[in-house]
Amino acid sequence: MTDEPLVLGIETSCDETGVGIVRGHTLLADTVASSVAEHARFGGVVPEVASRAHLEAMVPTIERAAETAGISLSDVDAVAVTSGPGLAGALLVGVASAKALALGLGKPIYGVNHLAAHVAVDQLEHGPLPEPCLAMLVSGGHSSLLEVTDVTVGVEPMGSTIDDAAGEAFDKVARLLGLPFPGGPHIDKQARSGNSVAIDFPRGLTSRKDLERHRFDFSFSGLKTAVARWVEAQQRAGTPIDVADVAASFQEAVCDVLTRKAIDAATSRGIEDILIGGGVAANSRLRAMAEERATAAGIRVRVPRPGLCTDNGAMVAALGAELVARGRTPSMLDLPADSSMPLTTVVA
Ligand code: KG4
Ligand code: ZN
Repeated sequence: MTDEPLVLGIETSCDETGVGIVRGHTLLADTVASSVAEHARFGGVVPEVASRAHLEAMVPTIERAAETAGISLSDVDAVAVTSGPGLAGALLVGVASAKALALGLGKPIYGVNHLAAHVAVDQLEHGPLPEPCLAMLVSGGHSSLLEVTDVTVGVEPMGSTIDDAAGEAFDKVARLLGLPFPGGPHIDKQARSGNSVAIDFPRGLTSRKDLERHRFDFSFSGLKTAVARWVEAQQRAGTPIDVADVAASFQEAVCDVLTRKAIDAATSRGIEDILIGGGVAANSRLRAMAEERATAAGIRVRVPRPGLCTDNGAMVAALGAELVARGRTPSMLDLPADSSMPLTTVVA
């Protein structure tokens, strides 16, 4: 349908320069230039390196996306951009670029929340979001359970991590095991040939006492420490470390807690649909376990394909298109890059 809004989305909250173009729920282009290789030797994203890489990649990435989508930039109905949360300098590059583009084209601009965009992206693959749905966002910076009734209006936080994010735990444990950054995909791969019950790692915030105060919250720092202690003990004893077994047992502990709490949260509100988003949603064990456990609980699960789970511009464009379609007010041209944008704000 040609009367659906054509929206270009820009994402620069971390180390991916993403430009996506969508028409309504149809994905036309999803172009990503990543600076991840430049950060690998530091074992984490270096903000200044990321900002500079965004600057260099921005114009070529926009041009490539427009070419892939077969559109001229003047056809675009609106520009959407991640306003936050994320790295301040990195966000600034995206926001400034989006402002220049919107101003030059004379089109509205929507400065959107990165986390709401991780939810909205699923529409590109599975159609309109079920309302309400329980969204579990698991990325390098966030681990949250949210009730989403209308993603263009807001999300209601039900729980979140009280220390490390799930992706952060994957990255730290990978580092401990000598695997490259970012660690999530490497742990996922190693775990496939490992035994997930080889080591009984702790499940954070699942004891009866913890559940009283933190029923829908997560904690991964104890798990990370437990893995570190286990590895040290093996090293002291001179026993070789079976990386695959450690990866599988660690991954099992993370996925066990995530899926258990997501299903509990959905059930507690009578919600029948769970949506999983963010980089960790690319994890093969999490996808399989969520599907299996949710089905047993009579709950449907939607997870976008792995390429749409990690940071990209299409998710920003998808949320932008939904905002246009629902007639939401655009941002002002002086919209900020807000590194700590609250979860409950959808449009800056
Ligand atoms: O959403 P994302 O691309 O960026 C943030 O907004 O943080 O998430 C990145 C995180 C990293 O911690 C990375 O290790 C993790 O997602 N990740 C995975 C997998 N793919 C990416 N974690 C587990 N299994 C994966 N397959
Ligand atoms: Zn993200």
